Amino acid sequence: MEQVYISDIGKYVGEEVTIKGWLYNIRSSGKLRFLEIRDGSGIIQGVVSKKDVSEELWTRFETLTQESSIIVQGRTREHPKRPGVFELDIINLQIVAVAEPYPITPKEHGIEFLMSNRHLWLRSRRTHAILRVRAQVIRAVRDFFDSNGFLLLDTPILTPAACEGTTTLFEVDYFGDAKAYLAQSGQLYNEATAAAFGRVYTFGPTFRAEKSKTRRHLTEFWMVEPEIAYMDLDGLMELSENFICYILRRVLENCRAELEILERDSTSLEKIEPPFPRISYDEAARMLDDAHKSGALENPFEYGSDLGSPDETYISSQFDRPVMVHRYPAKVKAFYMEPDPQDSTKALCVDMLAPEGCGEIIGGGQRATSYDLLLQRIEEHNLPREAFDWYLDLRRYGTFPHSGFGMGIERCVGWICGLEHVREAIPFPRMLYHLKP
Ligand code: 4AD
Ligand code: MG
Repeated sequence: MEQVYISDIGKYVGEEVTIKGWLYNIRSSGKLRFLEIRDGSGIIQGVVSKKDVSEELWTRFETLTQESSIIVQGRTREHPKRPGVFELDIINLQIVAVAEPYPITPKEHGIEFLMSNRHLWLRSRRTHAILRVRAQVIRAVRDFFDSNGFLLLDTPILTPAACEGTTTLFEVDYFGDAKAYLAQSGQLYNEATAAAFGRVYTFGPTFRAEKSKTRRHLTEFWMVEPEIAYMDLDGLMELSENFICYILRRVLENCRAELEILERDSTSLEKIEPPFPRISYDEAARMLDDAHKSGALENPFEYGSDLGSPDETYISSQFDRPVMVHRYPAKVKAFYMEPDPQDSTKALCVDMLAPEGCGEIIGGGQRATSYDLLLQRIEEHNLPREAFDWYLDLRRYGTFPHSGFGMGIERCVGWICGLEHVREAIPFPRMLYHLKP
């Protein structure tokens, strides 16, 4: 009998098939046993009836424990009352290994416990749904860029300099005589590849030594970063909204079942289409000021500072789709930002804030083109000039207007799945005090 994956079972209705997997759950009801069998592609209910099998086979079921590895043979049929749902009448059972008492039972467990058992927690229905959405988001990201003229060019993880400020750098000893840092972003290299190839993107793990515990921060996360030669801030905002809408459409098309398992009300996602609202930092500051005066926001917003989590949450709660906040004060942003020609204290940058309190999912902007200005910024930020000579070269040899952004995959998945915390959006999350498994 041929091995069949549960996800394909609909093609084998009425046939005898073999499923290789694990026992997710078992319950008995008189002379019937109901097994939930999972094989990684899905879960199917198998039924065995005492009258249909030998005494020996019937007693074999008694030794089964949760997560025992098993090979099951049976005949498939469609559920009598639920079309599209399939069941298996079990004919034979081979036990590959009986599992020891499994720590994650169907009852509720605390998050600390689940996190320390992440290697097992991955097998649960909920984790499955989330990580399948993640895979779909990543596929959509690649398809979007690959089919729009972008070239994938991977950027290094071991780097000689900071991109996003020196406070969140992971330092690595690089053969004793030099220090290396784990990349916070591929952007600086993207700028070089954009000068070579025009429209580029990089996609890989990025690292931030975030010393605070929040529901939005990981120390290792996956970021996709496009960079586009001759694009300005307006063009970038248009690209980002089209990008997000493309991802949403793909998830809504392909992950209905997963969103259902997560009990994610997808109507708020279905409504989202371009254009997304665009508000300046100054407008956002006024909104926050009014919100504080009316009591909707606890702490007053200090004009000139970066938006805090509660500020982002408030702003995004005012819109039914992601909102783009542009032109922040240059001094709260990274060194590479192009100043706004209308007001040089502001940067030509944009943060996209997702609805439902998810906060920033995209950060980006137009890059400084002037050699002298960049040099000055590098000094103001106390960055080591020698580490940036190659980056400055890009302004010496045919400097060009260009823009790009970065989107954190986990933030995006967290928003789409309606998660409380980004730790569930990656197979093995890395956070402050959390490195195992
Ligand atoms: O806003 P950030 O820091 O921007 C950059 O790194 C730019 N160099 C990107 C670029 O323009 N090429 O980070 C971009 C995005 C954020 O909007 C957020 O989605 C995600 O990366 N992100 C994190 N996600 C999880 N944990 C963290 N600690 C994150 N820090 C940033
Ligand atoms: Mg940011």
